[in-house]
Amino acid sequence: MTSNALLKVTDLNVSYNKLHVLFNASIEVNKGEVVVIVGRNGAAKTTFFRTIAGFLKQDSGTILFKGKDIGNLPAYDIAISGLKYIHQDKHVFADLSVKENLELGSYATKDYNWDRVLEHFPKLKTLMDRKGGNLSGGERQMLLMAQSLLGTPDLILMDEPTEGLAPHFIDDLKAAFKKISQETTMMIIEQNLPLTAEVADRVYAMKEGKVVAEITEKKEIQALTFEKYL
Ligand SMILES: Nc1ncnc2c1ncn2[C@@H]1O[C@H](COP(=O)(O)OP(=O)(O)OP(=O)(O)O)[C@@H](O)[C@H]1O
Ligand SMILES: [Mg+2]
Repeated sequence: MTSNALLKVTDLNVSYNKLHVLFNASIEVNKGEVVVIVGRNGAAKTTFFRTIAGFLKQDSGTILFKGKDIGNLPAYDIAISGLKYIHQDKHVFADLSVKENLELGSYATKDYNWDRVLEHFPKLKTLMDRKGGNLSGGERQMLLMAQSLLGTPDLILMDEPTEGLAPHFIDDLKAAFKKISQETTMMIIEQNLPLTAEVADRVYAMKEGKVVAEITEKKEIQALTFEKYL
């Protein structure tokens, strides 16, 4: 069977040593969509993303990206093929400038779409020479999103981009998500349900290592509560 999905993950199982934490997870992301993954702490959301992005190896299951099996590729090759993962820890290189940090994201492909990135994140223009270590949490997240966009990826996976950010930064990021989503497909892990309601085309809920629900109706996405699925 072939699929038109940009990303199609089927029956993924992942363990840390002998500890099985992700169970038969299956999802699809279609081109142009914003898909949000919600779930409580420890639901294995990060494990799921890290496996898709090639940082962890699955025990079983398949990961098709643009129709190609990427399940055995290293993270570096997956990134080059157009799938970028923004880690949950918001790590940036403290001693490098913002510009140098940005350039690292496209180091392999030398594909630098500066105009687009600065259009989405105009504030970065004034921060270019600042050291990564001196950025606020919100600025770091902006840098990481811009870094992933610089190489014109087909799909960006973002792991809790708003975690720990002040409300005004969350509003800025929400505006950025909306603009970026017009041209780039995104899958976002997010525990902020009001934000999810505004940006998501489709939602998957995860609980205790399993994908337990797929929510496609806008009304249902807007009425999402942690009690209902999570
Ligand atoms: N490196 C690791 N070694 C062993 N166990 C791990 C490791 N990383 C995560 N786990 C365990 O795997 C399970 C899922 O963790 P994961 O970080 O994927 O959850 P999460 O849904 O992203 O949680 P959070 O919302 O807190 O980020 C947890 O029980 C966690 O303790
Ligand atoms: Mg996580």
